Amino acid sequence: MKSRDKIDVGHSAPQGVEGASTILVRHCHGIEEFESCVSLERAVWKSADIDLVPVPLFVVAAETGGQVLGAFQGQDLIGFTMAVAGWRNHKPFLHSHMTAVSDAHRDRGIGRLLKSFQRDDALARGISLVEWTFDPLATKNAYFNFMRLGAFARRYIPNAYGITTSPLHASLPTDRLIAEWHLRSPRVCRALAGKQPDPAIGKKAVRISVPKTLEALRAADPAKAARMQSEIRAQFTHWFAKKYAAIAVASTPAGLDYILEPAGQKEV
Ligand SMILES: CC(C)(COP(=O)(O)OP(=O)(O)OC[C@H]1O[C@@H](n2cnc3c(N)ncnc32)[C@H](O)[C@@H]1OP(=O)(O)O)[C@@H](O)C(=O)NCCC(=O)NCCS
Repeated sequence: MKSRDKIDVGHSAPQGVEGASTILVRHCHGIEEFESCVSLERAVWKSADIDLVPVPLFVVAAETGGQVLGAFQGQDLIGFTMAVAGWRNHKPFLHSHMTAVSDAHRDRGIGRLLKSFQRDDALARGISLVEWTFDPLATKNAYFNFMRLGAFARRYIPNAYGITTSPLHASLPTDRLIAEWHLRSPRVCRALAGKQPDPAIGKKAVRISVPKTLEALRAADPAKAARMQSEIRAQFTHWFAKKYAAIAVASTPAGLDYILEPAGQKEV
């Protein structure tokens, strides 16, 4: 438990859900609320205008079968998630392009509350897959995606968005893992119930290590950070080509290990 209060995720309903404190997660409506999302996006990613997802795209997402969901404290938007509708393997799915919680409200379960509502809303519309990309070097996000949500990854896109202006990306190639969130899968249900999504890691598991010094290196020594990134990229692409999937992460004294298993033998 952190110094800040945890929000009780509890069960969420597609219409809106209130946590134990005063946080309400619901659909965003209207230009003003979409503008609040863009303000939060600006505060979190600190990108130049050219890299911002603008208000019209929030309108498009909301009007074309995607989602714009907000976490509100009173009138204030303190978190949002935005997804566009897509089509994968002959079925509709959601591509969740951005999820952000304002710095002051992190690590209280609000990200999880947003994703939980996203899941309920998708399931209520007959959608059972949500995907999103994330930076494999962002170890907190990896923990959140794999261990708290039960997502897994078996695809890697080198420099997915090109080099951006966001200091979060530190001028490195925007390599991304694709998180697959199969909403009805046992691993997702286990993770959302606060259990280990993968209770039994098999003997064929391999690990890819991300040193904890890497975050700091991005600013201090970008060339070295880029070399480490390309080593990590080579390992992911090697194992994904062999049909392994990244299914969990584990903290180590040196940083964080991704745990990969042969996807065919694993419930994913
Ligand atoms: C990713 C993000 C949305 C998560 O929101 P959040 O409200 O902090 O999420 P939660 O509180 O529900 O869960 C975060 C978990 O990560 C854990 N965590 C925090 N810092 C961590 C770290 N350095 N390493 C590992 N885990 C960490 C928290 O303890 C919490 O786990 P717990 O529930 O077991 O305690 C938020 O961090 C964010 O806005 N990040 C910047 C934008 C971004 O990168 N978005 C994702 C890609 S689009």
